[in-house]
Amino acid sequence: MSALASKCITFHSIKQPIARTYKRRLIPAIVIRTYYTVKRRVEKDDNFLAKHLFNKIKTTGPITVAEYMKEVLQNPMKGYYMTKDMFGESGDFVTSPEISQIFGEMLAVWFLNEWHKIGSPRPLQLVELGPGRGTLSSDILKVFSHFKALHNTSLHLVETSPVLSDVQSKTLCTHSSMAPNLKSSYYREGVTRQGIPVYWYKQLKDVPDSFTLLLAHEFFDAMPIHKFHKTYAGYKEVLIDLEQTQSSKDDYHFRYVLARNDTPMLKVLLKSTETRQHVEISPDSMLIYEEICNRIVSNGGIALICDYGHDGTGTDTFRAFKKHKQVDPLAQPGSADLTADVDFSVIKEIASKNKDVMYQGPVTQKKFLHKIGIEYRVGALMKNMTDKKQIENLQECYNFLTDESKMGERFKFCTLMPTSLKKIIDKYPIVGFS
Ligand SMILES: C[S@@+](CC[C@H](N)C(=O)[O-])C[C@H]1O[C@@H](n2cnc3c(N)ncnc32)[C@H](O)[C@@H]1O
Repeated sequence: MSALASKCITFHSIKQPIARTYKRRLIPAIVIRTYYTVKRRVEKDDNFLAKHLFNKIKTTGPITVAEYMKEVLQNPMKGYYMTKDMFGESGDFVTSPEISQIFGEMLAVWFLNEWHKIGSPRPLQLVELGPGRGTLSSDILKVFSHFKALHNTSLHLVETSPVLSDVQSKTLCTHSSMAPNLKSSYYREGVTRQGIPVYWYKQLKDVPDSFTLLLAHEFFDAMPIHKFHKTYAGYKEVLIDLEQTQSSKDDYHFRYVLARNDTPMLKVLLKSTETRQHVEISPDSMLIYEEICNRIVSNGGIALICDYGHDGTGTDTFRAFKKHKQVDPLAQPGSADLTADVDFSVIKEIASKNKDVMYQGPVTQKKFLHKIGIEYRVGALMKNMTDKKQIENLQECYNFLTDESKMGERFKFCTLMPTSLKKIIDKYPIVGFS
């Protein structure tokens, strides 16, 4: 940590665990979302989405991977994210905040530190995109509350899933209710256990304009992507079509095909300098990156984006996870999470088009957490622990978050800040990125 960072906030200054109990949330034997090839298998139960997609493709022809992802993840009736809580041991995958509260605590201290450096502007909006179970926001609020930083602060969650917004409310709130009228930009409101107001939105552009600390953790990897494949005849967009064989009425099979002609997205998105065999581009993410940049310039703010990702070198990363195993993305649509690595070079490019935005990153999770002093925090916690099991659990969580073979290397962090802060940043570099 830089001298300034340690002057502002020290992690080991949190003497006691912030939550009442300090235990591992998961047995880290679970598999995180790694990439490898699997055999396709279609099971017959719960095939609402398969039928819907089958009819759609039969009527209008093959669909893009982006359209497929949108339907599978966000379909209001049966979309993967719309109908259940998929986190944890009994779910499909695990995320860093669900492994240990140290993760959220470290991110909270990072935000507090950077925010203090620029004079702690208020009112303060904490914005989280895709908050899952609400665990990360909850851990962050506990740290902000510990440092008495919640005065004139509100929490804003961008979440499309009604089921997950319920889970988030249970994690975060003393009470919450649906928005009193349809005209409001939020669809749900509540009060957190720390006593600050919290609002839920379907999209970032509905969040009010105000100084913002914005966090997106494993949000952009759930955004729809277009896939392009290099052939001897140039790049072609990958589409999803019906498998020719349909053995029974309710037996739906899908397959990848290449578009014969150049699709509109190929013309718009693919760069003439592209050379990779497989290219994945998410225009939906690009719009949100742009929105984040515009917001931090007009309202002031700091954004931290953390995700599986690469720096413009990733290729074929579209994959599906079910019960902690990688499965075929085209089998039993809606029953598994779909994900694709985030291309951080696109965030950098969009930021660089806006002369008022500074981008830094990506750095690996291991590097980021070490630079902000995770080992001091873990050491301070261990000093106060007497139970051997608890100490082992903490060590295990620390390894899981930082080990290169676990979450340390695959996950990357980047940050966006307004260029108006350049003088301060030059003097006191952004912690974790220098
Ligand atoms: C992989 S989970 C990550 C959860 C959480 N950030 C964590 O790390 O534990 C993705 C989250 O983004 C939400 N989500 C997915 N697509 C979304 C969209 N287009 N708009 C808003 N939220 C979305 C999901 O409902 C879910 O809460």
